[in-house]
Amino acid sequence: MTTPRQIHTAVFPVAGLGTRFLPATKASPKEMLPVVDKPLIQYAVEEAYAAGMRHMVFVTGRSKRAIEDHFDTAYELESELEAAGKHALIEMVRAVSPDDMNCSYVRQPRSLGLGHAVLCAAHIVGEHPFAVLLADDLMVGPPGGAPVLKQMVDAYARLGRSVLAVQEVPADQVRRYGIVAGQPAGERLIDIERIVEKPAPEQAPSRMAVAGRYVLSAGIFDEIRQQTPGAGGEIQLTDAIARLMTKEAVYAYQYRGKRYDCGSKEGFLQATVELALQHPQMGAGFRDYLKSLTL
Ligand code: G1P
Repeated sequence: MTTPRQIHTAVFPVAGLGTRFLPATKASPKEMLPVVDKPLIQYAVEEAYAAGMRHMVFVTGRSKRAIEDHFDTAYELESELEAAGKHALIEMVRAVSPDDMNCSYVRQPRSLGLGHAVLCAAHIVGEHPFAVLLADDLMVGPPGGAPVLKQMVDAYARLGRSVLAVQEVPADQVRRYGIVAGQPAGERLIDIERIVEKPAPEQAPSRMAVAGRYVLSAGIFDEIRQQTPGAGGEIQLTDAIARLMTKEAVYAYQYRGKRYDCGSKEGFLQATVELALQHPQMGAGFRDYLKSLTL
């Protein structure tokens, strides 16, 4: 049974060009860059699946075909693995797209911003609340604890209002993020009073930065439709959230866990090293290797 407060649909804006990773991203999507042995987009899809979502909507663009192929059946690969008796590998390949998961793809024809990308999914999402996951932000839940999006979905089930993931960042980094400020509203929750996209440090209302996970009410679509270009000349999701807040409460949730900014080379390398250290098969050997380095 689906209750109105269950979230069934996750939207993945994946049309971005990935210029910070050129030349790697010249012909391949940045979301397909692997951290240890899985592409970034797969981490995000697994996080949505673990939070109960079964409909994944990808907002793609040109040269993003590899993402569709990744979540499709790979017949040739599977039959070759079958012939070679490599059953564990077949299971691993099939698990990328579980039988009860549906994928939809829609194109964002022009790079008009994150808000515009989310709006491209409106006709697929419909009237229900939904999640947005930015695959650049690789989120790892606390050891033994719930993944970040699951924590947010649980908060949504209690509040019945939009929930944004936030973390505190140093003052010199506020200009990279949507920044929120508001009133404490329970454990790890802030009832947002202000949200501003990429402010200068002296204009930032706080140091509480939005990470790339959102649970949004479908009312956001009407707000995006009315949105004029904001920071960077783009239709910003942050600005549409500010409009939504005039009609219904929006909460920020200080998640438990860690975020790796895999949109930057530094964050990508940190994720690679830390996830390799935690990897069940190669973690121990990799730790020994790192210790052997003269740093
Ligand atoms: C986007 C959002 C920003 C948010 C950030 C999280 O910015 O516009 O509000 O804080 O994601 O990663 P982008 O990183 O796409 O510039």
